[in-house]
Amino acid sequence: MATAAQVKALVESHSLGDEARFRSVVLQITEAATRTGRTRYAEEVRALLDAGRTARSAGAGLPARAVPLAQPRGELAGVLTVEQPGTRLADVALGADVMSRLHRVLAEQRRQDTLRAHGFDPVRRLLLTGPSGTGKSMTAHALASELLLPVFTVPLDAVAELDADEATAKLRLVFDLVAQTRAVYLFDDLDALLDPARRSATDAGSGAGSGARDALRSFTTLLAQDASTSLVVATSNRPQLLERSVLRRFDALVDYPLPTTGVVHEVVLRRLREFDLSAVEWPRVASTASGLSHEEVSAAARAAAKQSLLEGRRHVETAALLGALRERRQVLKMAP
Ligand SMILES: Nc1ncnc2c1ncn2[C@@H]1O[C@H](COP(=O)(O)OP(=O)(O)O)[C@@H](O)[C@H]1O
Ligand SMILES: [Mg+2]
Repeated sequence: MATAAQVKALVESHSLGDEARFRSVVLQITEAATRTGRTRYAEEVRALLDAGRTARSAGAGLPARAVPLAQPRGELAGVLTVEQPGTRLADVALGADVMSRLHRVLAEQRRQDTLRAHGFDPVRRLLLTGPSGTGKSMTAHALASELLLPVFTVPLDAVAELDADEATAKLRLVFDLVAQTRAVYLFDDLDALLDPARRSATDAGSGAGSGARDALRSFTTLLAQDASTSLVVATSNRPQLLERSVLRRFDALVDYPLPTTGVVHEVVLRRLREFDLSAVEWPRVASTASGLSHEEVSAAARAAAKQSLLEGRRHVETAALLGALRERRQVLKMAP
C-alpha cells in the first residue's frame, strides 16, 4: 500500500498537473507492491496508469488539467453533479434478461485488466432506452455502487440550454474528467439534445435548436474518442429519434420495457419491505398496474402503505393498492 508521504505526493502532483511526478510516485508504489508479492494489485495500478495515458493522447490538443474530486465548481457547475450512490443492483426490479446483461457489464468492468491483457475492451459505453420511470437512471447509480465508483451526472437538458460553443466546451471538460477520473458518467436524457422546442426562447440568436444539435454531434465525437476506463451510461426515452451515427458509438444498448406481472410484484416488495403483504392478491394488482411504469407502481405502493399506516395497520390490503394504482392511472390520463 502507499505510504502517507506517497499519498500526499500523489495529491500534490495531481492538483499541480505535474504528470511526470505523478507517474513516478505511482511507479514507486507499484514497485513496492511487486516486491512484497502483491503483483496483481501492481498490475492493476499500472494498467490504470496506462489507460489514463492512452485516453489523454486520444484527446490530443486538450489542455492537461487537474480536476478536483469534490463537487464540480467553476466551469462544470450546473452541468455536472457527483454522488456516491448507495443503491444496489438488487434494489432495481428488472426482468431477468435486462438483469443478466447488466451483470455481464459488471463482470467486464471488474475484470477489465484481464480483458485488456488479451486485447479486448470491456463494455464501457452503454445506452439505456425505454419509457420514463423504468429505472434507467437508477441503474446507472446501482452500477456505480456495485463498482464502488462515484457517479457523475450530466443533465443534458441543462447542456441543451447553452449555445453551441459553450455546450461543446463543457462537454469537452466533462470528457477530460471521464479520461482522468474513473467513474460512472450518466449522460441523462440524450433526447434533450434532439428537441429544439426545449431550448430557451431567449437563445434565438444561435438559430433555434442548432446549439442542441451541435452538442449532440460533439457528444458523439467525444464518446467515439473516449478510450478511458470509465463507464459511460446514456439514457433515452425515444431512441427511435436517434440517428444511427449516434447509436453505433455505444458498445451495448439495453432496452427497459414497462414492468411485467412478476416485476410489478418485485417493485412493490422492494418498496414495502417493512410491511406485511401476505394478504395481497397479486394477479389483481398486476392487471391494474398494466401500462404503468416502475416509478408509477412504486409511488402507488408508497401511497397505499401510508394509508395503511394512518389506519393503524402494518399490513397492506389489496384494495388500498388497487385504489392507489387507479389514482396513478387517472393522473396519467390527464397528462398531455
Ligand atoms: N426498475 C425499477 N425498480 C424499482 N424502482 C424503480 C424502477 N424504476 C424506477 N423506479 C423508481 O422510480 C424512480 C425513478 O426512476 P428512474 O431510474 O429515474 O427512471 P428513468 O431514468 O427510467 O426515467 C426511482 O428512483 C425508483 O424509486
Ligand atoms: Mg431518468
